[in-house]
Amino acid sequence: MPDLTDKVAVVTGATGGMGQVIAAELVRAGAHVITIARNPARADALRARIGAEAADRLDVIAGDLSRRADVLTAAKTIRDRYGEIHLLVNNAGAHFSEHRLSVDGVEMHVALDHLAAFGLTTLLDEPLRRGGARVVNVASDTLNDTRQIKLAGRPRPATVDLAGVQSLAELNSAKGFVPFEAYARAKLMTVTAGYALAPGFAADGVTVNALHPGLVATGIIDDLVPSLLRPVGPLIRRSLLTPAEGASSALRLATDPALAGVTSRYFNRDEESRTPPVSHDPAVQEKLLVLSRAHFTG
Ligand SMILES: NC(=O)c1ccc[n+]([C@@H]2O[C@H](COP(=O)([O-])OP(=O)(O)OC[C@H]3O[C@@H](n4cnc5c(N)ncnc54)[C@H](OP(=O)(O)O)[C@@H]3O)[C@@H](O)[C@H]2O)c1
Repeated sequence: MPDLTDKVAVVTGATGGMGQVIAAELVRAGAHVITIARNPARADALRARIGAEAADRLDVIAGDLSRRADVLTAAKTIRDRYGEIHLLVNNAGAHFSEHRLSVDGVEMHVALDHLAAFGLTTLLDEPLRRGGARVVNVASDTLNDTRQIKLAGRPRPATVDLAGVQSLAELNSAKGFVPFEAYARAKLMTVTAGYALAPGFAADGVTVNALHPGLVATGIIDDLVPSLLRPVGPLIRRSLLTPAEGASSALRLATDPALAGVTSRYFNRDEESRTPPVSHDPAVQEKLLVLSRAHFTG
């Protein structure tokens, strides 16, 4: 890990799982880390991990990232406090096993797994450009295969069809809702939006990449394990990566000098990988940008 003294990093989802490791490692390397927590008391474990001597290099801002108003407020707070941002790790995410709407009427995967990352990336535009930042989106390879049990057959990539869509509130509707597919669609949207945003950032040295961290034993995994396999849950957990192992891919994308200037890519762990053709479709990218921006501008 390079020396990150004087670097400013925003890491979402740092109260647990991989985000906690990512934030702590960045602080350890000298960075000042900002996180947004829906329950700031839940950042206590991160504070303990960082230790008292580095406590002044952690800034916890209260906010629920599934709420538009909170994303807007958190971004404004960050803009007011920090002129430059050098790293943005959009790591917060969740899998919802039932159809739920955010307070803004948007399905929760779209709200949290896509719009929070998109909102922060676009609302922090100026400090990111001033810092020549690296933006790292923690996605999931479910976008390449939405089958929960992969015993037979071919991978079934996530889909996103924006034809005739007027608002992102129309996506992942209750009718025919399949949680795993809804989660994968939101991750596909984040990757697609990242590809779309990257060229506009390039002139200021800002890079935007995404990754799949591997299958990692964190809180989210209990939701992702199909009910059929729940009895062997503890066994499954033991076969997974640790949060530190999972976090290493995001940390590499965020800090490895060898990746300077690399943008608009998707990595499965540390290997560059492909994403479904729809994510590279310029018309889909453009429409996704318009609809995602509209969510924050009203
Ligand atoms: N674990 C895996 O195998 C795996 C595989 C592929 C991709 N991923 C992705 O990796 C990322 C990190 O997940 P993880 O595995 O480390 O899961 P995790 O342990 O459940 O951590 C998720 C983090 O997101 C935060 N978060 C959730 N909802 C939030 C909200 N509404 N507002 C603000 N923060 C919120 C959580 O905060 P609270 O403390 O408030 O809950 C927590 O800090 C996610 O984007 C996930 O989709 C994970």
